[in-house]
Amino acid sequence: MRVLGIETSCDETAVAIICEKQGLLANHIYSQIALHNEYGGVVPELASRDHIRKLAPLIQEALSDADVSLSRDIDAVAYTSGPGLMGALLVGAGLGRSLAWASNKPAIAVHHMEAHLLAPLLENVAPEYPYVALLVSGGHTLLVEVLEVGKYKVLGESLDDAVGEAFDKVAQMLGLEYPGGPQIAQWALRGDPNRFNFPRPMIDRPGLDFSFSGLKTHVLNTLKSLTKIDGQARADIARAFEDAVVDTLSIKSVRAVTATKAKSLVVAGGVGANQKLREQLTRQLEKQNVTAFYPATEFCTDNAAMVAQLGLLRLRSGFCEPMQIRVQPRWSLEGI
Ligand code: KG4
Ligand code: ZN
Repeated sequence: MRVLGIETSCDETAVAIICEKQGLLANHIYSQIALHNEYGGVVPELASRDHIRKLAPLIQEALSDADVSLSRDIDAVAYTSGPGLMGALLVGAGLGRSLAWASNKPAIAVHHMEAHLLAPLLENVAPEYPYVALLVSGGHTLLVEVLEVGKYKVLGESLDDAVGEAFDKVAQMLGLEYPGGPQIAQWALRGDPNRFNFPRPMIDRPGLDFSFSGLKTHVLNTLKSLTKIDGQARADIARAFEDAVVDTLSIKSVRAVTATKAKSLVVAGGVGANQKLREQLTRQLEKQNVTAFYPATEFCTDNAAMVAQLGLLRLRSGFCEPMQIRVQPRWSLEGI
């Protein structure tokens, strides 16, 4: 069985082909980062138009790279149906469904966050169920208990900004480029950890929800209070911000594995690429006898391999779905 996966929920156009026996046959990605850079964030209309330009050639490239033909060798087309930007989602859904229909194959609408949650299954060593997933991206901050494929319990989520969004906005305040996460991580390396001490939001409250807008305001107020904002001040703020975020995410993740008695924690989403978060989580979870899993960076950030994989799982479980182009810009994980 082979599935073609398409991802266009935000600012990456991605196409992958997965085979039940041989694993990933192709995994192509085109990032729009340069396009959105000058605006400091994703501009939805520009994103949709660029997906239109790039998706069809990328599908052709993936098919030729894997040396397969759509009509002869592919059994289904999976595409991200939500959550995400409406226009961007419609490009992947429209082309994915059309290709499936034209070649008489099923099309499978995939939940972007579910695909992230199951991305570690693409690796050789996968976590055992039930596991807890910390899903941290530009659009989401979630702690989820993964009981099995298709069965998820949201343990906590951000009440305001997603953590990646907070990284991007703080980077913008510091005059750094988009996306802000890698920039902040880079600048934080030469920051003094003792110059500023930023709050760890909501750690004194029960529950596993997050909030990052207060921390963002704290950065803004710190910047306003400075008479001179030089390179060192930027690095020190980046360091204090990264430390506060990493501590907050680690504290809540440890609480989540303790509450669920899970033996594994998976970190998914773009912010999961943060090295300091990885080191701190691994250290703290080891003390609880819990193993931390990190998908390779190419599977951590937005990609189509995770979409193709989820499509394959659905296809194998005898999935069936009406022939309509369906996108859901907002879509609860528990409503799958
Ligand atoms: O999962 P992703 O590629 O796209 C979605 O949002 O779905 O995540 C992108 C986010 C951006 O906000 C980016 O700033 C953040 O992940 N990010 C990081 C790092 N690399 C990417 N945040 C912190 N540290 C990083 N090293
Ligand atoms: Zn994502």
